[in-house]
Amino acid sequence: MKIAVLAGDGIGPEIIAQAVRVLNALKTDGLNVELEHGLIGGCAVDATGDPYPEATHRLASHADAVLLGAVGGPQYDDLPRHQRPERGLLAIRKALNLFANLRPAILYPELANASSLKYDVVAGLDIMIVRELTGDIYFGEPRGIEMRDHQRVGFNTMIYSETEIRRIAHVAFKAAAKRQRKLCSVDKMNVLECTQLWRDIVIEVAKEYPDVTLSHMLVDNAAMQLVRNPKQFDVMVTGNMFGDILSDEASMLTGSIGMLPSASLDENNKGLYEPIHGSAPDISGKDIANPLATILSVAMMLRYTFNQEETAQRIEQAIQKVLAAGFRTRDISESGMTSVGTREMGDAVLSFL
Ligand code: IPM
Ligand code: MG
Repeated sequence: MKIAVLAGDGIGPEIIAQAVRVLNALKTDGLNVELEHGLIGGCAVDATGDPYPEATHRLASHADAVLLGAVGGPQYDDLPRHQRPERGLLAIRKALNLFANLRPAILYPELANASSLKYDVVAGLDIMIVRELTGDIYFGEPRGIEMRDHQRVGFNTMIYSETEIRRIAHVAFKAAAKRQRKLCSVDKMNVLECTQLWRDIVIEVAKEYPDVTLSHMLVDNAAMQLVRNPKQFDVMVTGNMFGDILSDEASMLTGSIGMLPSASLDENNKGLYEPIHGSAPDISGKDIANPLATILSVAMMLRYTFNQEETAQRIEQAIQKVLAAGFRTRDISESGMTSVGTREMGDAVLSFL
């Protein structure tokens, strides 16, 4: 199993270091992994001028999976758009055709008090957001800022082909079929033609999955329902931009964005795995970031790309035990619990593993 490790910027290297310790421990136990490191984001711009250098692309295309930390930082804010660290992330998603982004939002019972919502509203929460990741307004052309009638106008294009909609719909129906068999497709068909097509195609694909109950929701209502009664949802499927927004919202229902992993998959389950959170420059280098989302991303990698369900669960159970034993990084701290730093959290995971 060849894994390209791209630590990136900010807290990226610190949290990735703990995930690598977990992979190395599994290697000692006989897991056949081989890690190779590369640059992405701001550190890649610093070294090469390109947030997704050719060498990284070669490394990532030859690997079976990519483990990514996070990209970005305030020192890069003034760079031209094509050099921004986020461009590295968008480029690798597009280059590797990682169109299916799975973002689970699971509330660990031990962390129920970390949510800003009432306990009863979130207890037992387990949602999977399936976000299309290589299309939509993120990549649509034409785009730009230009002069029209003596003033600047900014424009982007929201666009989806039926092929793109169909393939993400299949991923979502398959995910729902393995869970509670409920799929909610989110669109804005009352205003946007692009998402009318989205809804039409999802309805067509539904015929192939008679066991899954399909519903539709407009995105504004979905944003509201996620905080009103999130447990009504099992799997949600939506486009790139709506999915970006709704997945941040869903992650916070669980109390900490520092706990949530994600997978971005191509048609053959090759994948890029990364925590949902960003590079958190304000806390980088202080050994206080929560490495659990990154370690949980390793579990997702073993599950989706390498079909190692047992080892994936072994990692997830170790993390559950760490939480039950009261270890907490700052983002999930609670009085009466044991406060630990990034590396100590890694130690705790390894000891339960
Ligand atoms: C995410 C992030 C990215 C996105 C940014 C960093 C480009 O917010 O993965 O959700 O918008 O997709
Ligand atoms: Mg986002």
